[in-house]
Amino acid sequence: MNVTIVGTGYVGLVTGACLAELGNNVFCPDVDQNKIKLLNAGGMPIHEPGLEEIIQRNVEEGRLRFSSDVAASVAFADVQFIAVGTPPDEDGSADLKYVLAAARTIGRHMDGFKVIVDKSTVPVGTAEKVEAAVREELAARGLADMEFSVASNPEFLKEGAAIEDFMRPDRIVLGVATDAGGERALAALRELYRPFNRNHERTRVMDVRSAEFTKYAANAMLATRISFMNELANLADKVGADIELVRQGIGSDPRIGYSFLYAGTGYGGSCFPKDVDALCRTAQENGLPLQVLDAVQRVNASQKKVLLDKVWARFGHRTEGRVFAIWGLAFKPGTDDMREAPSRSIIEALLRAGATVRAHDPVAQEQAARALASDMADQPDLMRNITFVAQPLDAAQGADALIVLTEWKNYKSPNLRALKNALRSPLVLDGRNIYEPHAMAAAGLTYMGIGRNNAA
Ligand code: UGA
Repeated sequence: MNVTIVGTGYVGLVTGACLAELGNNVFCPDVDQNKIKLLNAGGMPIHEPGLEEIIQRNVEEGRLRFSSDVAASVAFADVQFIAVGTPPDEDGSADLKYVLAAARTIGRHMDGFKVIVDKSTVPVGTAEKVEAAVREELAARGLADMEFSVASNPEFLKEGAAIEDFMRPDRIVLGVATDAGGERALAALRELYRPFNRNHERTRVMDVRSAEFTKYAANAMLATRISFMNELANLADKVGADIELVRQGIGSDPRIGYSFLYAGTGYGGSCFPKDVDALCRTAQENGLPLQVLDAVQRVNASQKKVLLDKVWARFGHRTEGRVFAIWGLAFKPGTDDMREAPSRSIIEALLRAGATVRAHDPVAQEQAARALASDMADQPDLMRNITFVAQPLDAAQGADALIVLTEWKNYKSPNLRALKNALRSPLVLDGRNIYEPHAMAAAGLTYMGIGRNNAA
């Protein structure tokens, strides 16, 4: 099939590359000409394992193209995915300006029936706004009767595992209208996703509003599990329990399951914080505030401070002369994404308190330097007190504590003797609970995890 995916951001690129890999002809337009230039020169705007190879192969074999020619992109395919960004508005709700601009472009150039698919994460009711925007453009061209149908097909992929998630989906949610246009849309999308349904049917067909809501409900549920576990972890610290053992104890109940029960330094990234906020906003607008979800947000904000509290308790609030080693900057492993990464607020607080920081991350160092410089734009000199090192152990050299903030695989089994020798004082603050307290103690390291019976 021919498919157009508007927007070469995270979701657009992965969707475009994977649909091409399945044998479709995919056109990826973007209004950002620099991005298009970069992609056409073989460059990658994001770090995502496996994506570059798929893009290269499909570009070479002629199934995938990038261009800023929007008229050509509309003419190219009957199925037009909108996968542009929905950054948070000032009040926390999703800003739809890019989605609606993409819709208008389609309306300005279409010359026959189109299936317009919202792939971006958009609030309930957006499909109707997209429809109105397209209809307005058509009316301005004297084509008010031209048919099209707007569908919702939210994306559930995780950064760092996006290819695998796209190619082996748990479910494919399709929200379509109940009229004839909706039937045509459903037929086209079923055809496109047929390769995923060979062994068993993964498609969930529903009305458009329910599909839009499903996306937010999924992220809100996952964020709730995390905040709940983080609260339990803090209590575990107080009552002398180990949240890791508790996690295993409850996860073994199939009604609970093991996923997304890891306590840590709070959830980050481009999705959970933004989507939870947007759903809270929608709830308020509808006069039905979501009390649980409001608490999820508050807990997440305070969780980012839990490790810092352990630092202050140990070293006091002024940390001049102290050196902290940081392992992991990205909001999670497998990505260089620094959006809402807990490392940002933690490092910023340490630097503002007078400390020196030596940081390591396998892929996110450049992004981290940029993010931190912008967070501390009011005190640019502080950036002199952070260095980014090539090897994890270099960060620990002479440090007063090692703070682990991202659970990259290469941090999981360090040479504990070398680590102890490198540190000035043998303290490990494990924000991801990746180490065994007994092993750390046996190596002579003072270990503090999250909820592991060790409140400072
Ligand atoms: C999340 C969802 O998992 C995807 O299903 C969804 O498609 C995506 O948002 C989106 O809306 O686009 P992502 O943000 O890439 O994916 O990352 P996750 O792996 O979900 O992690 C989110 C945050 O939660 C990270 O900061 C992670 O460290 C944290 N987390 C996750 C925990 O603190 N504990 C856990 O048990 C799991």
